[in-house]
Amino acid sequence: MAAVFGVDIGGSGIKGAPVDLTGGQLAEERHKVLTPQPSTPESVLAAVHEVVDHFGHRGPVGLTFPGVVVDGRIQTAANVSKDWIGLDAAGLFREELDLPCTVLNDADAAGLAEVRHGAGRDRSGVVLVLTFGTGIGSALFSDGVLVPNTELGHLELRGKDAERRASSAARERHELSWADWAVRVNEYLDLVEMLFSPQLIVIGGGVSRKHDKFLPHLTDRPAEVVPALLRNDAGIVGAAMAAAGSAGE
Ligand code: BGC
Repeated sequence: MAAVFGVDIGGSGIKGAPVDLTGGQLAEERHKVLTPQPSTPESVLAAVHEVVDHFGHRGPVGLTFPGVVVDGRIQTAANVSKDWIGLDAAGLFREELDLPCTVLNDADAAGLAEVRHGAGRDRSGVVLVLTFGTGIGSALFSDGVLVPNTELGHLELRGKDAERRASSAARERHELSWADWAVRVNEYLDLVEMLFSPQLIVIGGGVSRKHDKFLPHLTDRPAEVVPALLRNDAGIVGAAMAAAGSAGE
């Protein structure tokens, strides 16, 4: 099969690379551009085009989106331009790139990669992958099967959208120490644990690189809590897996 390409569209950056699906890793160093502000469909389509062109890629492309995506269509956009809502993103990317395109939620993509190749590998039962970045993303698995678009970052915590209190961006916005941020993450994990009783919680997103700073501050709980292994590449790898149709194999 032709090489499969993954693109991760985030609130601050758009990054992509061809992916080695067997090893679950990037086949080349990724290329990143800043997410245009405002992140309108036109400007994001152009930025994605630039990332894919950087590699001269011809073949299937998987793309993540930081919102609910059903059958390639965008239903929510909490941290990017609301102009995306209702659009057939898969169709728009296909037209822009003239390549087969698959679009899925960013946390779902990261989760697929972690469960197949990373911290959730060979784990049965309920596994919850949470990504802490601009928002909080969630990917819920039961025996390796994903329930897409769970959106657990928008659970209510202390009367607020949980991601407003406990995302990585909230830590920066409120200039919280790692220990103080961990108090908020703990509260959030208590809530998701109460609702879903996962056996394993994988902490992903950009902040997973700094796991030594906050994991020691998290309290013991029934679920095992571990850092993501693919770090910030999980979205790219998971997007390519989805495009290759290999996600559930
Ligand atoms: C969005 C989710 C997304 C998460 C992480 C949330 O605000 O609603 O769809 O997965 O941010 O980007």
